[in-house]
Amino acid sequence: MGSPTSENNRSPEDVQAVVGAEGERALVVIPTFNERENLPTIVARLHAALPGIHVLVVDDSSPDGTGEVADRLAADDPADRIHVLHRTAKDGLGKAYLAGFDWGLERSYAVIIEMDADGSHAPEQLHRLLDAVNAGADLVIGSRYVRGGRLVNWPRHREWLSRGANTYARLALGAKVHDITAGYRAYRRTVLEKIELDTVESAGYCFQIDLAWRSVRAGFDVREVPITFTEREIGESKMSGGVMTEAFVMVARWGAQSRLERLGLR
Ligand code: GDD
Ligand code: MN
Repeated sequence: MGSPTSENNRSPEDVQAVVGAEGERALVVIPTFNERENLPTIVARLHAALPGIHVLVVDDSSPDGTGEVADRLAADDPADRIHVLHRTAKDGLGKAYLAGFDWGLERSYAVIIEMDADGSHAPEQLHRLLDAVNAGADLVIGSRYVRGGRLVNWPRHREWLSRGANTYARLALGAKVHDITAGYRAYRRTVLEKIELDTVESAGYCFQIDLAWRSVRAGFDVREVPITFTEREIGESKMSGGVMTEAFVMVARWGAQSRLERLGLR
């Protein structure tokens, strides 16, 4: 997907496992807003699946005390695998991830992962993403809409909205990604270093489209692996009308820009 530039093109001999079998050298960034009940479960499942993986919780001062729950998890982990970033205000998913990426890039992690706190992304399937990274991919998207991908308990209206957003983005951008809004991903650090994160403005979920699109355009090897997305059982989605409007407008803008570029007009 996306034609790799020569710079990003690796021969098989160059490909080496960047993440260890137990998740070593990888950091999972988990943004949280009011996920007090979900957070301990997701972190425990993650470490049961991949005992060597590190976690960074990025909490936007959740009124329900998620930040304190995260601090306690961090203090109680003898292996020091859990870290917490406290932000002062609810500032959107994108801004939380950007802060988390900066934190991870300042340290020596080879791969940085995005995962929701609410159980929608199964930690038991993370190895599918990491295997693809170890096989040479630069960005791996856990996809609901490739063969083998599944949706469990997602309300019909959310599924249609999500499928509609993907179709719209595919047509507007011409990107061949089936689940470009997906929030379960693994990035090699080289991707995050190259795609100019300091110019990312998208705050809400269109952040996901933005970063995938930048990765494709930069010529990285972007792959999708099937995952099962299970709707949360506890708490509420933070999806809102404003988030959708932002995505609609931004995608139209990026699509127009890239068409102009292709025509040599920009
Ligand atoms: N720190 C922080 N700040 N975290 C946030 C914020 C915020 O403003 N908004 C949401 N989160 C956290 C939630 O606490 C959760 O851990 C994660 O981000 C996803 O939020 P949800 O509200 O559960 O998202 P969703 O289930 O509606 O949306 C899912 O599907 C979208 C569309 O495919 C997610 O996987 C999205 O990433 C995805 O784009
Ligand atoms: Mn959710």
